[in-house]
Amino acid sequence: MRKLSRSTENLAGQKMFQILTRAKELENQGKSIIHLEIGDPDFESPPNVVEKCIQELRDGNTHYVSASGSEEFKAAAAERTFLSRGFKPSFEQILVTQGANIQIFYCLATIADPGDEIITVDPCFVSYRSIIDFLGLKGIYIPLQESNHFKLDPNELEKVISSKTKAILINSPHNPTGSVLGEAEMKQIYALAEKYDLFLLSDEVYGRMIFEENFFSPSSIDHCKDRTVIIHSFSKSYAMTGWRIGAVTGPEKLIKKMTLVLETLNSCVPPFIQSAATEAIISDQIYIKNMISEFKERRDLIYKCINSIDFLSCIKPEGAFYLFVNIKETGLNDVTFSQRLLDEHGVATCPGSYFGKSGEGYVRLCFANSKKNILSASVRIENFIKDLK
Ligand SMILES: Cc1ncc(COP(=O)(O)O)c(C=O)c1O
Repeated sequence: MRKLSRSTENLAGQKMFQILTRAKELENQGKSIIHLEIGDPDFESPPNVVEKCIQELRDGNTHYVSASGSEEFKAAAAERTFLSRGFKPSFEQILVTQGANIQIFYCLATIADPGDEIITVDPCFVSYRSIIDFLGLKGIYIPLQESNHFKLDPNELEKVISSKTKAILINSPHNPTGSVLGEAEMKQIYALAEKYDLFLLSDEVYGRMIFEENFFSPSSIDHCKDRTVIIHSFSKSYAMTGWRIGAVTGPEKLIKKMTLVLETLNSCVPPFIQSAATEAIISDQIYIKNMISEFKERRDLIYKCINSIDFLSCIKPEGAFYLFVNIKETGLNDVTFSQRLLDEHGVATCPGSYFGKSGEGYVRLCFANSKKNILSASVRIENFIKDLK
């Protein structure tokens, strides 16, 4: 085989999709599997959004549109940003994209050159590492500690800023630990970005899924005019993972270049999807509010169940829909734990080390699943632990 590119040589992709494939194989063999591996809400997408999409298709809204996104969508997104974050971005500050993942790629491709440094945390959402490596950038990973509730300590951040640093990439509420950064910490992080003149990428895909404190976005400091970029999509907050739709908000100059990257690689986002997403934003939010309060109840349930099992412990996630379980006392490493739990007891989970070295000894459980399944999974996990004794 001829050699392929260096940038794809070690590309890891999103390994949890491989667990999903394995879990589906076992299901096809007739095994009962409880899926706690992928961060995908078990709720259907809002019915009015589905209807709107069908109508748009019937009306023939199926052609190329402008690369940066429809004005209708942008107006709705700007209004929502005003309600949630206290400022109204201009249309030139918004780019409509296919989900949040690609926003991180477009943004890093626009702001950094090979060899430049991007600071983020470890563990982190798997795509961060893949995108950073793919673009030939240098990821600087600050280890998060369970003793600090997996929160980024701004003092640790300043220590790793160098002349090569281009951006800080933060994520609150955090995947995979559910930690949330408060207003004071966010302000400290923003102040460092300002002091060293860095971009601050704030991945807020779980911004609505917050169970304790109020959500604070650093964008409320500079209104995305100077350095803050809000990474956001409809995947989690509107139970629309398969629609591939989102909007990134940032400084006009940056968004203009990102638009060119999108136009080059993707031409535009399907117009019927944009219309459906507009419907999601402007219609009554009660469906989504109910989903989030259900997630809170599930969080409380899974936290209680897992903490009562011998050798397992976890801190209470303050946001998102993940429980990051410390399995160190079982004596198994996280990959073996996760594999055996799937093969022997039919519970699909994600090893913590997939999210980085500091995730070793942890397993991520996604609780975007019914209470009934959470209870059954807990019984199966307890039986697995009993088998180990
Ligand atoms: C922190 C974080 N950012 C971004 C994404 C990507 O979301 P999207 O489906 O909108 O591409 C995910 C998906 O799991 C995530 O957890």
